[in-house]
Amino acid sequence: MKNLLTRPLFAAVVALAAAFAQVQAQTPYVPPVPADDSLYQAFGGQPGLQRLMDDLVERLLADPRMKPFFADAELPQLKEALVLQFCEVSGGPCRRDAKAKGMREVHEGQDITRADFNALVEVLQQAMDAQGIPFAAQNRLLVQLAPMHREIVNKR
Ligand code: HEM
Repeated sequence: MKNLLTRPLFAAVVALAAAFAQVQAQTPYVPPVPADDSLYQAFGGQPGLQRLMDDLVERLLADPRMKPFFADAELPQLKEALVLQFCEVSGGPCRRDAKAKGMREVHEGQDITRADFNALVEVLQQAMDAQGIPFAAQNRLLVQLAPMHREIVNKR
């Protein structure tokens, strides 16, 4: 009797959880907009973000793990898009174009593994250190970006 009652319930819970995971996996992750611009200021505002991206892109090209991904990228456009994105997620006055491609589409077909994602975060941390961005601010930004791995990592 107990089995009869609990089995369908269990199956329903599993089906619901699977459906929820599916929806979660397909809904683009939108980082929460910070309540104020303190994080943006900690990154030095627009000029600070521009310096950071100049440095980051140089480091990505110098890193043997990252170079194959970025060697043929449109670098000025990439920097511009990253400045805009970091400005937005740090509470700055920018908004990514609503018509711009989502993170899943941008990275589609690039065969990015979790290890590649972690390597990029490592290089980003080196660039943030080099720019003298306080550790707490670095972490606040990484918390905003980390959930994007679900859309960016597309290879096991
Ligand atoms: C938190 C992690 C990441 C964020 C926030 C991010 C963000 C972005 C953004 C905003 C763009 C520009 C899109 C546009 O032009 O509108 C981009 C492009 C690109 N991303 Fe990522 N990305 C991340 C991780 C990665 C990883 C792990 C790789 C590869 C290992 C990667 C490879 C690329 C490449 C190659 C492009 C340039 C595509 C092109 O211009 O042809 N990204 N990314």
